[in-house]
Amino acid sequence: MRIVDIIEKKRDGGTLSEEEIRFFVGGYAKGEVPDYQASALCMAILFRGMNKEEIAVMTDAMMHSGETIDLSGIEGVKVDKHSTGGVGDKTSLVVGPLVSACGAKVAKMSGRGLGHTGGTLDKMESVPGTNIFETDEAFKKQLNEIGIAIIGQTADINPADKKLYALRDVTGTVESIPLIASSIMSKKLAAGSDAILLDVKFGSGAFMKTFERAKELANEMVEIGDSLNRDTRAIITDMDQPLGLAVGNSLEVIEAINTLNGKGPKDLVELALEAGSIMLEQAHLVKDHEEGRKRIQKAIDDRSGFKKLCALFEAQGGDVSYLKDPDKFEKAKFAIPVLASNEGYVKRIDSMEIGVSAMKLGAGRATMEDKIDMSAGIVLAKKVGDHVKKGELLATCYTNKYGVDSVISDVHDAFSLSKEKVNVQPIVHAYIK
Ligand code: URA
Repeated sequence: MRIVDIIEKKRDGGTLSEEEIRFFVGGYAKGEVPDYQASALCMAILFRGMNKEEIAVMTDAMMHSGETIDLSGIEGVKVDKHSTGGVGDKTSLVVGPLVSACGAKVAKMSGRGLGHTGGTLDKMESVPGTNIFETDEAFKKQLNEIGIAIIGQTADINPADKKLYALRDVTGTVESIPLIASSIMSKKLAAGSDAILLDVKFGSGAFMKTFERAKELANEMVEIGDSLNRDTRAIITDMDQPLGLAVGNSLEVIEAINTLNGKGPKDLVELALEAGSIMLEQAHLVKDHEEGRKRIQKAIDDRSGFKKLCALFEAQGGDVSYLKDPDKFEKAKFAIPVLASNEGYVKRIDSMEIGVSAMKLGAGRATMEDKIDMSAGIVLAKKVGDHVKKGELLATCYTNKYGVDSVISDVHDAFSLSKEKVNVQPIVHAYIK
């Protein structure tokens, strides 16, 4: 079998056989297929798509490209949550500790930043000392002891996704339903949780631009999870403006800390209540959604969620003094204000533009080798629906780079204002199951 034939078959709209998909995934994971051929195939898949059978085989091949974790020895329902990627999406660092503080076991395998979106692992590494590569044994021990662990894929777990994810990030091949569904579900299935909540985002800052595409992706992933007997549910959420106020690694960790201490932005708190409640239902810890929301709110009010965040970082080697005193996080050299040039109500904040701008300020990667600047990013001062006066602060850009004038003007242009009052949409648009 030759990879070039597989690339050409998909390029011409063919359906790949199980052997062909396994040959590609296995070969790429082992380093036998070069990056240039893998990226050509990803591009062909992006344009030509895959049918349900191809996606199922791709997911299975990726999941079995390395070891899988068996969590059956750990008592209780193990729940996981995963977002399809957004701008300012620090939900896992809020909802994970809250759900764990309510008694569920949160076993999460996360990813790094991808394209214009941030990744939980990069954010976690902004806390000095944090180790996101644990062994299987350490992952299970931590789950047993403190009820939460968030790790990355080690070389042993799902190496195919680890490599493909990094490759897709820099080859324009992220926005594909088959590639996203297989990437997310292979990680989730390899990590061994019993129940999975998927936060599927849509809008300008999401990989899925429309509600319909997000629904298609959500259904695809729920089907894959169900077929392997995992309680898989999804929420479809708004990414037409960044989530919360902070975009960028340590800036988002600080916002997660504030949220767990009762000072979170409205949309992030609402998402934490909704997602957290569903995860508690999946863990059979509450009788209904309302009770779930109340339990999550209590874990914010009594700060048990924040304590759990500290326990999580401590277990993974992070310096918890940063969580207790966020002023310790290194600050960027420049804090550049972005001011409104007109008066009005914020109608839209183009989250793609904000995500790309944050990346250009240093918060993301443009190539696989790029190092992230943990202190770089953007903090919004206004959200959709807010009133702004001419000259008022819209956002602050944090960077260590010189010559970012065009980025500052892009951030300014990401805000659209209207003369009329603007209705704010709910954060959760739909529930799958
Ligand atoms: N998140 C993932 O884990 N994989 C993707 O492909 C996109 C978002």
